[in-house]
Amino acid sequence: MGDTVRFGISMEGELLEKFDRMIERQSYTNRSEAIRDLIREKIVKKEWEGGGVVAGAILLIYDHHITGLSQKITENQHHYHEMVISTQHIHMDPNNCMEIIIVKGKRDRIRELYNSLKATRGVQQCDIIKTIVKEKE
Ligand code: NI
Repeated sequence: MGDTVRFGISMEGELLEKFDRMIERQSYTNRSEAIRDLIREKIVKKEWEGGGVVAGAILLIYDHHITGLSQKITENQHHYHEMVISTQHIHMDPNNCMEIIIVKGKRDRIRELYNSLKATRGVQQCDIIKTIVKEKE
């Protein structure tokens, strides 16, 4: 990370009031951290739209009693093995499993895996946390 640079922002008072109310609800203690997070979120969004190399975590919830489901989920990950960095499996209760799949690779391939897992019958929840490999300088 480079040196911190201070800069001023001008905006309408009404907009700033709305912003302050919003960040207070989100427990930010100062505007700078809230603005930095907004910029980071926008950069991640743009990188994902751009379709280059990105990273993320796919979270799955499913009932392991459903015949063939665990196997299907594992097979799917093997099909995309070149971008699966790590998988963590948690036995949440007697029925449900949580699986967190850390991925890094081409956006389109990650999307394919995510969509395919999400559409798998028996998967109750499938979400993705998007991030990027490295912020551009
Ligand atoms: Ni399990």
